[in-house]
Amino acid sequence: MWGGRFAEGPSAIMREINASIPFDKALWRQDIAASKAHVAMLGAQGIVSAEDAATIAAGLDSVAAEYEANGVPEDWDLEDIHMTTESRLAELVGAAAGRLHTARSRNDQVATDFRLWVRDAIDQADAGLEALQRALVARAGDHAASIMPGFTHLQTAQPVTLGHHLLAYYEMTRRDRSRFADARARMNECPLGSAALAGTGFPIDRQATSSALGFDKPTDNSLDSVSDRDFALDYLMAASQCALHLSRLAEEFIIWASQPFGFVRLPDSLSTGSSIMPQKKNPDAAELVRGHAGRISGCLTALMMTMKGLPLAYSKDMQDDKPPVFEAAGLLALSIAAMTGMVADSTFRTDRMRQAAELGYATATDLADWLVREADIPFREAHHITGAAVKLAESEGKPLDALTIDQLRAIDGRIDERVYAALSVEASVAARASHGGTAPEQVRLRVAEARGALGMES
Ligand code: ARG
Repeated sequence: MWGGRFAEGPSAIMREINASIPFDKALWRQDIAASKAHVAMLGAQGIVSAEDAATIAAGLDSVAAEYEANGVPEDWDLEDIHMTTESRLAELVGAAAGRLHTARSRNDQVATDFRLWVRDAIDQADAGLEALQRALVARAGDHAASIMPGFTHLQTAQPVTLGHHLLAYYEMTRRDRSRFADARARMNECPLGSAALAGTGFPIDRQATSSALGFDKPTDNSLDSVSDRDFALDYLMAASQCALHLSRLAEEFIIWASQPFGFVRLPDSLSTGSSIMPQKKNPDAAELVRGHAGRISGCLTALMMTMKGLPLAYSKDMQDDKPPVFEAAGLLALSIAAMTGMVADSTFRTDRMRQAAELGYATATDLADWLVREADIPFREAHHITGAAVKLAESEGKPLDALTIDQLRAIDGRIDERVYAALSVEASVAARASHGGTAPEQVRLRVAEARGALGMES
């Protein structure tokens, strides 16, 4: 493509280090779409003849059909997807192909293709997250009143409802979707027509290519346009944060599925066995989701480090922008799908959850709150009295509400029979009816809102 200026061809090492076709062939659909928008505009503006524009457009369709049928050929001499396509186009349509690259550079071409690709990846992540939310909300509705221990420090803290716990992940994914939506809105400007770095002397119509490709508007600075990869970083940041959330949900399932907990039975379809221990059913999918979060945030770090300190405008370092984005997108899509299946198809062992809530002195705070409410004792003192009751119950190996009224009175004379009503796990969760609290009535309200937001039937 630049033979005119060179006496010798590249060394084998130059060819290999330069070739991005092994990975950027993933951009072929975007590259064809952007080229078609470009050549249609060149024709409409009279920059190339209508006849050549039609020949090129038809040729691009043929190249696309070949790629679809046989994949994209990998010839390192052709470097990247842009030159691979242009060279095949020349083979198919002859000299007219040479007019496609008028008023364009690979710099604005790759910036455009990559934005289109990232925009699709955002839409894919959003659709996946919506499916995950539907699963979370459906299961939360089923379990609005199922009681489990709530944890802090992974120590039993207070009883909560399983529905409430699942809806916590609904909130996280709501923020994830809004982060992806922000990224999409910010990135949706078209760099095509910025050419190499300075714009072009041809009378192009940037508005036309921008709308043909579904962008809101053309970008406003050609230097920035060819050197900006914020859109990819925004995507990776949203993906990393989403992956962190998924890793936390995965970790819950891993803990819950372990035998001492036994809170959940994972679907066979998302578990594996052991080649040596016949009894094993391992949560490999969840563990890999947990692991993938590390790789996805590694992709973010990789691209941040690639972009650090680059002067304007395009530098070849930026060719390395694609592998981390492609890798993260693949890992994220799998992670979202795996967690959706796990949420939708796991069996929650609500009997075991309830039992664990009852055995963990999870209602100790309710005893303290009762003392504050009914006996007007300051909370700090009530906390102390309750501690003594827990100590006694623990030494006798029984739950709090199995202490006799005489035992409780011996700890503090202001306690009376009415206290038992506050000590059950049901009473405990029902009492926490503040906005956003764990009470079944609150969970049902949140489920109804979420179903509305997701357009699910009520
Ligand atoms: N394959 C290149 C990339 O992905 C295309 C842009 C090449 N531009 C250049 N001036 N060499 O970044």
